[in-house]
Amino acid sequence: MTNIERPNTDCMLQFACLQQLPRTMRTWKLSALSGANVLGLILILALDQTAATEPLNSRNAYVDLVLDPKSSASVLQGFKKKSTTAVIYMCYNRTFLIEPALESILRSEDLHEFDFIISQDGGGSAAPLNPEVPNNINYGYIRHQENLNAGLHHFFMKQLVFEVLGYEHLIVVEEDVIIHPQAIQMLKFMLDMSLDDLEIGLVCIIDVDNSYFVDMRRYNASVQRVSMPEGHLWVYGMHATRYRAVRKHLLDYTELIRREEYNDLHKDPLAAKIRAMYKRKGIPLNIPLSQDLNLQYSLRLEGFDRRLTTVARFMKPLGNWGLHFRDDKETFFGRFGTEMFEGRVHLPPKETSREDMKDMAQTCIAQLDELFMGHLGRHPDEKAKSFAVSRLLGGSLNGIVLISCITQTAKRRTSDCRDTYWV
Ligand SMILES: *[C@@H]1O[C@H](CO)[C@@H](O)[C@H](O)[C@H]1NC(C)=O
Ligand SMILES: *[C@@H]1O[C@H](CO)[C@@H](O)[C@H](O)[C@H]1NC(C)=O
Repeated sequence: MTNIERPNTDCMLQFACLQQLPRTMRTWKLSALSGANVLGLILILALDQTAATEPLNSRNAYVDLVLDPKSSASVLQGFKKKSTTAVIYMCYNRTFLIEPALESILRSEDLHEFDFIISQDGGGSAAPLNPEVPNNINYGYIRHQENLNAGLHHFFMKQLVFEVLGYEHLIVVEEDVIIHPQAIQMLKFMLDMSLDDLEIGLVCIIDVDNSYFVDMRRYNASVQRVSMPEGHLWVYGMHATRYRAVRKHLLDYTELIRREEYNDLHKDPLAAKIRAMYKRKGIPLNIPLSQDLNLQYSLRLEGFDRRLTTVARFMKPLGNWGLHFRDDKETFFGRFGTEMFEGRVHLPPKETSREDMKDMAQTCIAQLDELFMGHLGRHPDEKAKSFAVSRLLGGSLNGIVLISCITQTAKRRTSDCRDTYWV
């Protein structure tokens, strides 16, 4: 059991402390501190001069406070580390999504074996959370005083967990998902099985629902080794060793976005700066500029070419509208579905063998054939079959989209169905 090193004073940065006081208190405190009226007056004047840029300054000061490993733990008062694995729920301000998401995490089996921390971005106006956390769960809540932005929030959290608090494993759940009661257990097993596997950079719950094309009675506890940058990191796990390997890349990215708003990420000049860095490092320039893809490509640069993903989907996404998606419900759920694997799994998970893959390929083709015959009155051609099988085994099939391509009327079928899915 390790205690977090605590700062000696209540406030780490004097400037940040002063920001929390009302203005009259501030001037009083400053003049009292100075002990000389003249000096006090100068300071009052100086403070008033900065009033116009105060919101920006206070955000910058807060960002500096939480991104400095020497002071970042000050936002987690009263928390004591007990486990070697931290489960972090990262959220913003969508209460109607946060409530069901948090409830699902708290229903997780064996959550009490890990430490559980909520980190809420959004600043002072984000609605404070008050979840009913069972007494046996070691729990901490960070409510950020200022709005960081998604990229800084992710870096803050990794640095805090690995560098400041010294955890060995991290499991992240993002704001807008409902997780299966065994999702966290599953990820912990996947972390354990990949600890010394130097090809694997991350472990994750698959983001798409392929249950129609897989015999889930047989493969519900299976995991696959797939290419690093596919899919969303909505629920994932990572080792401290992998963090250390890519820390410098994460810092480079963080420095670029440090003073920026999330919404400016995809606009120049910031987008151009990120791409210039990608060019220098040999990361593809045509990818979205998110912190998650920066993490995935950074891992790949350091030799971690693959990740482990589940075959069954142990979560369901909820967020069609927010930071990451700006879709109407129909478009979003038409793409990602609304279901997750509902049964119990026998853990530990097992990686799919060659034999399993052959068997999965056969099932996939049989299911595809049934769909084609039922809706299109013909068998799928070789291209459609090999597309579905290779994508399924590569962890990058979107079964929901494939089904909708086949079952859609010809008029509503998108050009993507023909060009990509061979329907
Ligand atoms: C958070 O949500 C509340 C209520 O919807 C809203 O008033 C507030 O402005 C939001 N804050 C942020 C940072 O989005
Ligand atoms: C999950 O897989 C196990 C075998 O590994 C099987 O016994 C069980 O029925 C499966 N559950 C579901 C809901 O398919």
